[in-house]
Amino acid sequence: MGPLLPLTFLAVVASAQLHSRNAPDAFSQPPSTAVDYVDPFIGNGGGSPDGSGGMIPSTAPPFAMTRWVAQTRHNYVSVTPYNYTATTIYGFQGTHQPAIWMGESGQAVVAPGAGTVRPKFEDRGMRFSHADEIATASYYSVLLDAIEGGRIHAEQSATSRVGHLRFTFDRTQTPYVLVEATRAQVVGSNDPTNVTYPLGALTIDPAAREVSGANPERQDFIIDPHHGATIWSGYFVARFDTDFASFGTAQNGTIREGETDGEGALLSGFVRFAEGTKTVNVRVGVSFISVEQARANLDKEIPDGTTLEETAYKTRKEWAEKLDRVQIEGASREQAEVFYTGIFHTLQYPYEQDEDGKYYSGYDNQVHEGVSYTGYSIWDTFRAEWAWQILLAPERVSGMVQSMLQDYQEGGWLPMWKNIVETNIMVGTHADSLVAEAVVKGFKDFDLDTAWEAVHKDATVPPNNDWTTSYYDREQNVGYEVRAGLSSVYATSGWVANDIHSESASRTLDYAYDDYAVSALATALNKTSEAAFFRARAFFSPFTIFNNATGFMEARNASGAWAGGYQGWTEGDMWAYTFDVVHDVPGLIARRGGEKGFVEFLDEHFDGGHNDHTNEPSHHIPYLYSLADAASKSQERIREVAKDNYNNSVNGLSGNEDCGQMSAWYVFSALGFYPVDPVSAEYVIGTPFFDKVTIDLPASSQPLVITSTGAPSKPYIKSVTVNGRPLAAPILTHADIASGGEINFEMSSTPQSWASGTLATGEKRYGHVEL
Ligand SMILES: *[C@@H]1O[C@H](CO)[C@@H](O)[C@H](O)[C@H]1NC(C)=O
Ligand SMILES: *[C@@H]1O[C@H](CO)[C@@H](O)[C@H](O)[C@H]1NC(C)=O
Ligand SMILES: *[C@@H]1O[C@H](CO)[C@@H](O)[C@H](O)[C@H]1NC(C)=O
Ligand SMILES: *[C@@H]1O[C@H](CO)[C@@H](O)[C@H](O)[C@H]1NC(C)=O
Ligand SMILES: *[C@@H]1O[C@H](CO)[C@@H](O)[C@H](O)[C@H]1NC(C)=O
Ligand SMILES: *[C@@H]1O[C@H](CO)[C@@H](O)[C@H](O)[C@H]1NC(C)=O
Ligand SMILES: *[C@@H]1O[C@H](CO)[C@@H](O)[C@H](O)[C@H]1NC(C)=O
Repeated sequence: MGPLLPLTFLAVVASAQLHSRNAPDAFSQPPSTAVDYVDPFIGNGGGSPDGSGGMIPSTAPPFAMTRWVAQTRHNYVSVTPYNYTATTIYGFQGTHQPAIWMGESGQAVVAPGAGTVRPKFEDRGMRFSHADEIATASYYSVLLDAIEGGRIHAEQSATSRVGHLRFTFDRTQTPYVLVEATRAQVVGSNDPTNVTYPLGALTIDPAAREVSGANPERQDFIIDPHHGATIWSGYFVARFDTDFASFGTAQNGTIREGETDGEGALLSGFVRFAEGTKTVNVRVGVSFISVEQARANLDKEIPDGTTLEETAYKTRKEWAEKLDRVQIEGASREQAEVFYTGIFHTLQYPYEQDEDGKYYSGYDNQVHEGVSYTGYSIWDTFRAEWAWQILLAPERVSGMVQSMLQDYQEGGWLPMWKNIVETNIMVGTHADSLVAEAVVKGFKDFDLDTAWEAVHKDATVPPNNDWTTSYYDREQNVGYEVRAGLSSVYATSGWVANDIHSESASRTLDYAYDDYAVSALATALNKTSEAAFFRARAFFSPFTIFNNATGFMEARNASGAWAGGYQGWTEGDMWAYTFDVVHDVPGLIARRGGEKGFVEFLDEHFDGGHNDHTNEPSHHIPYLYSLADAASKSQERIREVAKDNYNNSVNGLSGNEDCGQMSAWYVFSALGFYPVDPVSAEYVIGTPFFDKVTIDLPASSQPLVITSTGAPSKPYIKSVTVNGRPLAAPILTHADIASGGEINFEMSSTPQSWASGTLATGEKRYGHVEL
């Protein structure tokens, strides 16, 4: 997903100044070179106008429910909690904001201080410098200049549902910690003064050394078509390891000494520690179910007596379990950092919404048994991130699919962009692709009948008021957006009418791909006639908006009149989207003058500066040369895209991470292949970046070994073998790699004819799997 803010802002590019990733020895355990390459600051800029739109430097294990981050500002849609250009930290936030364009939900906040208690956000900021920060996958620390003098050393780690913070004070300070229950909630994306006041609760229990409470903030309620999560809160229990010397509550800036309970808006609690207290540990359990569950999460994940070193060890081990599975040889330091930080980014979302075998559902306000996930940026992540998660985190896949099916059962639809509840963000019902890809790749331990019912509904049932509602981006007070325009007039004519629906041309192409995914699932389930029906629609629809006169995709009115090449797109333009028929590249090639004409069109696209890798519709485009008999040109373009859009600086991702899709592109590309058409279970070969990659696939007894000696300086491919079998076409199947094996690339410094000549036989050597 891309910016909502005007692109005319000039990026305030944060300097690529070096920051320390060298954690103290205790926090570098267990040993893992792969985890040491992770730099959580990479891509924090994320291509955003103010240099702060990307991934936040947060600490938590893979797919963690709550990620902890230093808070440099009040976050809301378009503003994440950590801004690299900031110089002030206001506290530490257990955040559930999965991406910059989504809202925060039920955050927990603790802020250390010394001297006068300062409950107001704007009064409590403490200066810091990046030189005094350490950030790793499992540990973060910073030195803060306390407002009344001296310094506070703040350290944090976290498990999935519990933050662990340790504050070290000067002996001269009167230390305290503030626990914030509620604040002003910013409800839009660009006006921080447009707020509502969530009403929370807070209890201080000095005997238990606990501050607990509830925070019902959920910024995306204004775009939630379900009007769900009406009895919802982020519950928290902050348990300290040190007796309270005194305590109180604060409401809207007014301190109430000695009060143990509070309710309402702008509410915090504070606890002071005895003069001379040096170190205070606080563990903050978080729950979407109840305070009791938050406490149970705390006791389960970080029991009393656990040191910060032990918590960080556990979390680092969880990252090592995944990252150490991928060993690379021949990468530069910078490439290794981009690569492993990329993997770190691809394994953060969706995030766990279940606790102790049960989960709160915002769709029906009930607690159910089972596993649940939220934070699905599916419009972005169906492209490559899902395929990558299937390879490296297969143990999560069935639970993630099951979770989407539960959303369907409890809310009526599969998710599009679920952030606790649906938000209607972006277009298309690409959960169809996620479900189908999982089934096609062999995951079947969820209810296949429900899976079919859910994707079939996406493909056949239009949203409410489909003829009269535009479903424009972030439209409020509308129903589930799903395939807006299905009835008007996609299902009858093949395109979504631009005079009725927003983003109509993008929708047309996205729905066509989704139909293809539905047909793939139907095929896997032996539903032959349904497979044929949706397959026919998938191949017919895209070209109903191909304007023969211009050679570009173009939106159309309901009448069939062309609407103009600049209309009807989301996060892309007619250039990117004309290449967006990933399931029928041969059909596209035929319409663009055959292979020669198509290659010229690709050249025009790249040479004319039309490729925009900062947004997802461009991600597969450099791979398309390979499908037009010009593999060496794919090899050149992929290297260029990688070089121009990825580096190890704060602004090292040219676009928003989008819950991992930006990095999934890099990770697959570095391996030498990419899932252009994910549901086909095929990968298109690009150009491996390193000499050798060995992946210890969790689902396979033997590793996948990719050897490409010389690749760092030789981008071109002379030959490829898979398990000794020469590959004539630039296509790998999932079956080729899913059980490990050996891929050998013979690299060259000059363009080669491998998969790059003219077709010798006229036979199609590649293409989508016949379904
Ligand atoms: C990020 O911090 C910089 C420097 O303090 C500031 O100019 C910018 O406005 C901040 N961005 C936001 C959205 O707060
Ligand atoms: C506040 O933001 C909401 C959500 O965007 C919008 O509906 C409302 O009109 C805004 N209110 C004001 C006073 O701007
Ligand atoms: C907070 O206090 C200010 C100043 O007294 C007042 O104007 C404001 O309405 C209060 N806000 C809330 C949400 O109570
Ligand atoms: C498409 O529909 C819009 C809205 O009704 C109208 O303004 C426009 O003229 C139409 N375009 C064509 C080419 O008919
Ligand atoms: C589909 O048919 C094949 C071949 O008859 C069979 O092996 C498979 O179990 C069937 N799959 C389902 C989901 O019914
Ligand atoms: C474009 O040309 C093709 C082949 O000549 C034809 O089948 C198709 O209907 C035309 N498309 C449109 C939208 O006119
Ligand atoms: C790093 O990448 C960003 C985003 O593409 C770019 O703006 C910046 O110039 C690059 N920095 C370096 C040092 O290459």
